[in-house]
Amino acid sequence: MKYYVVLLSVLIERTWSTNDAPQQLKFPPWFKFGAATAAHQIEGAWNVSDKTPSVWDVFSHEKPSRIGDGSNGDVACDSYHLWREDIEMVTHLGLHFYRFSISWPRLLPSGFPDRISSAGRRYYSELIDGLLAAGVEPVVTVYHWDLPQSLQDLGGWTNPLVVDWFADYARVVFSLFADRVKTWITINEPLVFCDGAYTMGVYAPGVLSPDIGKYLCNRHALLAHAKAWRIYDQEFRDRYRGKISLANTITWYEPADGETDDVAEIVRQYGGGIFSHPIFSKKGGWPPVIAKMIAENSRRQGYPKSRLPPFTEKEIKFIRGTYDFYALNYYTSRVVRRARPGETIDAWPFFGAPELNVSLTVRPEWKKAPPSWFYINPVGIRHQIRWLKEQYGDVEVLIAENGYASHDPTAHDMDRVQFYKDHLEQVLLSIYEDGVNVTGFTAWSLMDNYEWMDGYVPKFGLFAVDFNDQRTRSPRTSASYYAAIIREHALIEPPEYLSVTQNATNTNTSYNSLILSFVLIVYFIK
Ligand code: GAL
Repeated sequence: MKYYVVLLSVLIERTWSTNDAPQQLKFPPWFKFGAATAAHQIEGAWNVSDKTPSVWDVFSHEKPSRIGDGSNGDVACDSYHLWREDIEMVTHLGLHFYRFSISWPRLLPSGFPDRISSAGRRYYSELIDGLLAAGVEPVVTVYHWDLPQSLQDLGGWTNPLVVDWFADYARVVFSLFADRVKTWITINEPLVFCDGAYTMGVYAPGVLSPDIGKYLCNRHALLAHAKAWRIYDQEFRDRYRGKISLANTITWYEPADGETDDVAEIVRQYGGGIFSHPIFSKKGGWPPVIAKMIAENSRRQGYPKSRLPPFTEKEIKFIRGTYDFYALNYYTSRVVRRARPGETIDAWPFFGAPELNVSLTVRPEWKKAPPSWFYINPVGIRHQIRWLKEQYGDVEVLIAENGYASHDPTAHDMDRVQFYKDHLEQVLLSIYEDGVNVTGFTAWSLMDNYEWMDGYVPKFGLFAVDFNDQRTRSPRTSASYYAAIIREHALIEPPEYLSVTQNATNTNTSYNSLILSFVLIVYFIK
């Protein structure tokens, strides 16, 4: 008995005592850590060999003022030439996997599979082989926003034929690399490339059509994903035993004080449900609350039918169930309230607010990161993961992106260290307290890179890249911190971090010591 009491006391002493802190700091044995990049953001070599321009090449070249610093992805991190250095960074961190994307116009210069570029094929093949030789699993995104411009000229994501174009491209990718790649993401974040382009005009191809183009793009992206998933399922899965899904970025939305949760819920359904309900729900199709709302808005605006193009019964079945896991990208949160009569609602920086007639703000306690849209709310990732489980059941969740941007190019990035620590803590709570099957975490990003319309100003990297020089990569403090977490397979506190939180930790420790003393005294008096 005595031993049990002492053991209990030691346990109390050794675990965290606040309600918010996870009782377990170890990640489950199967949990994997990775980092991510995307082709257009790192490769450069925009016109090398037979690569043709993507929508992002054209968007940034035509009007440099569209990009915050007037830059483009012509050279970016020059990963097309420096991929061996990328693998060195990956091994330095001890990553279990590295998520990167394939550039459609690099592999298929015409956009179609009439001819596969031998240079493009060699590049990705060598990268994959290099990762495998280093003991790192390649996780491949088939499409991360760099549509061939030739297909954009034919209507891009608003043309229903894009579903077949994408499926043909995906089949080529699988036939070249599925022997070595076991985890696939078909499409990254349709919310951003559809809404960013068509609702706001700030992402390539920058075609403003919030009422119509956005929903055509949404619909075709879902069908394209489903078709690629089914091709993998039917033609490749038996041989290669991989898994495949799409990645969604979801902002966590919570009601403003005094608002009811249903206001926030409709925004959740719009931001996350549109791209999840058709695939992950039992019934499939658009989220009913969204279909109803857009139909009513359309009628009020004088459209003869809903601007949200419906799925046929056949399409609903075709899309439903096309997943092997949920790939979640999480960065930020918003507070939602109903718009006041006559209030002007801005689509920036969060898509869909005018359609929903809501105002989106933030809580004063959420710290601001430099990009305009970025407010930090670590607990949002836990709420979001729990919401997915409530909505779609016990699906495996892979955090496919999470990371912090500053404008500070230097190496000592304690803000990023803090960001990862706080978010990984919430991931542990999702696993141990909420019982969600979260199987991996992907840091965005392996290195500083071309951050779309913000150019090279935001720095997201665990490694800094010198864009004025030979694209030299150097590890930041966060790289050592992340490497240590991976090594220990546990959430740890690096020495520098301890000095920042010494007081908080001391409070917990002394509180635990008090409980410990109390337990021991009671026992020995008895
Ligand atoms: C994601 C996107 C990445 C990266 C990141 C940081 O939405 O997939 O490419 O840009 O945001 O903003």
